[in-house]
Amino acid sequence: MAAGHKSLPLDDLYRGIQSDLNDVESRLREISASSNPLIAEVNRYLFQKGGKRIRPALLILSAKMCGYKGADHVFWSALVEIIHTASLIHDDIVDNSTLRRGQDTVHAKWGANISVLLGDFLYIQSIALALKTKIYPLIDLLADVTVAMVEGELIEFSMSGRADLSEEVYLEILDKKTAALFSCACRIGGLLAGISPGQQEKLHEFGTSLGLAFQIVDDLLDFKGEEKSMGKPVLSDFREGRITLPLIHAVSAAQGRDRARLVELIENRKTRSDAPRQVRDIVLAAGGLDSAYERAADYVRKAKESLAEFPATEHRQSLERIADLVLQRNA
Ligand code: IPE
Ligand code: IPE
Ligand code: MG
Ligand code: MG
Repeated sequence: MAAGHKSLPLDDLYRGIQSDLNDVESRLREISASSNPLIAEVNRYLFQKGGKRIRPALLILSAKMCGYKGADHVFWSALVEIIHTASLIHDDIVDNSTLRRGQDTVHAKWGANISVLLGDFLYIQSIALALKTKIYPLIDLLADVTVAMVEGELIEFSMSGRADLSEEVYLEILDKKTAALFSCACRIGGLLAGISPGQQEKLHEFGTSLGLAFQIVDDLLDFKGEEKSMGKPVLSDFREGRITLPLIHAVSAAQGRDRARLVELIENRKTRSDAPRQVRDIVLAAGGLDSAYERAADYVRKAKESLAEFPATEHRQSLERIADLVLQRNA
């Protein structure tokens, strides 16, 4: 499998499902091949730097934990990864991001016009391939998740620069743009194995809690990560006006003049070049990173609890360990 950047030590965990993950890579290449030279070129560029492949791994492990013995999990994992890839292409346009997985974004390299079209192409191609299976409960999940992700990105964009963003709306954004796809991956695994609605609900809870923790940690790292190991720039969320949990906590902890200063820095982030570093210092001093980390840890605990009723196989253990690793991620 293409290695991707190593921001999570997943290799050990992936060993048990390596041949499935390799098959997912082959499927991705097959699906993304095109007779259109431009589509083929962009797809080669996209799929050469692997990324973590955490969503395919969640789908495969969920299916196996639930006793699935077939081979279709590979195909569905590839579709989930294609939807993820499409969302990243569009997200990098929305966020004005030039670096992803340690290389230029599609947006930086080919421009917004081609990126919009390529993202659309991948989204609809994944749904079209899913439709051919006629397995409607799974198709429904994929269609619903794409709608949720676009909605999450839209709400986030419409709230940019709003110092009064509540934690509740922040979590709604995360639920839609990130956690929905984590949950979808896990539930597809469960549905393939034919589990009960009650167990489906538990997998939904696991994926959602894990996805929320994952995105909260990603948001934290924007304040404290390093560009080199992250493969993307730091403090860029703030520059783009994204109000994330450490900042929400800092705004609510600050009083009087401190709060006014923070709001002023957020509002003038485009004209004051010192604003990102100043805000970072205030967030650190207010304990915004620690409290956001605690929130992520709560979700990881909740995620692991959701698996309690599943058979205690090595696959369940791997899912639990992925949850723990999310908290240890430092790049
Ligand atoms: C990036 O997802 C988008 C977020 C939800 C933060 P990943 O961190 O899984 O990205 P890749 O696929 O490994 O590059
Ligand atoms: C990732 O969100 C995009 C989706 C989950 C659809 P972010 O904008 O927060 O993630 P990065 O930092 O670009 O990976
Ligand atoms: Mg982004
Ligand atoms: Mg974004």
